[in-house]
Amino acid sequence: MLPRLSTLWLSAGTAFLAATVDAACTSPGLCDLNTLAYTHRRFWGTCVKFGETNSQYHALSVDFGEFGMLTPINAFGVSTIQPSQGIFSFTATDQIVNYWLGSTKARLWIHTLLPTTGLPTWLANGSWTQATLTAVIQNYVTTVAGRYKGKIYAWDVISEIFDDNGSWRPNVFYNILGTNYVTIALKAARAADPNAKLYIEEYNAEPVNAKSNALYSLAQTLKVSGVPLDGIGFEGHVVAGQIPTIGNVMANVGRFTSLGLDWAFTQLGVRIVNGGASVSRQMEDYIAMLSVCLNSARCVGVVTSGIVDTITIEGTGVWGGPSWTETLFDTNYNTVPAYYGIANSLTLATINGNY
Ligand SMILES: *[C@@H]1O[C@H](CO)[C@@H](O)[C@H](O)[C@H]1NC(C)=O
Ligand SMILES: *[C@@H]1O[C@H](CO)[C@@H](O)[C@H](O)[C@H]1NC(C)=O
Repeated sequence: MLPRLSTLWLSAGTAFLAATVDAACTSPGLCDLNTLAYTHRRFWGTCVKFGETNSQYHALSVDFGEFGMLTPINAFGVSTIQPSQGIFSFTATDQIVNYWLGSTKARLWIHTLLPTTGLPTWLANGSWTQATLTAVIQNYVTTVAGRYKGKIYAWDVISEIFDDNGSWRPNVFYNILGTNYVTIALKAARAADPNAKLYIEEYNAEPVNAKSNALYSLAQTLKVSGVPLDGIGFEGHVVAGQIPTIGNVMANVGRFTSLGLDWAFTQLGVRIVNGGASVSRQMEDYIAMLSVCLNSARCVGVVTSGIVDTITIEGTGVWGGPSWTETLFDTNYNTVPAYYGIANSLTLATINGNY
């Protein structure tokens, strides 16, 4: 466990925060976020980079007190797993799955089972009929989900399939099969690993807007048709000082839970861009976003975008590091004020989740 510096609590600047969190955090381990989340039947997790050699990064990534859910993001690309049609290669993904499961009690949330971007040429530019492309999806999803049967808590089966205006994004699957590609993938995933949770995931869909309306319409159609779907992942990339209205986000997640769906934040990050907000503002906005989860019994938990800004999914290129400040640990691996605000909220939560 990391040393907790009282100056950091005080720099959060909120009297109630310093008082309540200080008390909880004086015992080592008591303020670890996953430990706190778990008492309210939720998990706290992070996107992780496999193979990172920084020892502090590594120690935190396998600290189950801090992170009970890990997302080795973008590790499951079609180009990696099926570089040529019919030729599967599991060297990289086996190593990643086995490594994390062997190093921590945290569970795995994989993003994405059937990616629609970064596809290899044979798939993206193949000459497909509806029948041949359906077979490709079924074979891929069945083979991948089947290989890791029983090892994965949740799959983002598909993600980022809508434009912000609510239009379906063109990709080889949509162009040939229309919206039905989602159903084909979900059914194949359920058949291959009946106990894994199946999610559809999006960004910029936290409040009610054109994109979340399209996502809701899809979820409603799938549920009415009996297509297997367990939940919705909201990525949760927001800007400190400019987060969506919380009542609006509550209303949005509420309509999905009314369909019988769980949900999670799958890449939560409240970023400070160019010094445009204070760390206190960032803390308040993390607390506000988290409050949506803590007030919704069907929110199973939160996965954050990364552990430190220098090793995150954000910015120029995956793991390139962003030009902003977002994560709960600074570059010296010390906690930032938002960490304590989150710990405090998790401690005071009154509604339990169903993780
Ligand atoms: C598919 O073909 C187009 C047009 O030739 C090309 O621009 C694109 O890069 C190709 N996509 C892939 C994934 O190879
Ligand atoms: C929605 O946005 C996408 C991406 O900007 C654009 O290509 C498409 O034409 C838009 N659709 C409509 C109906 O405006």
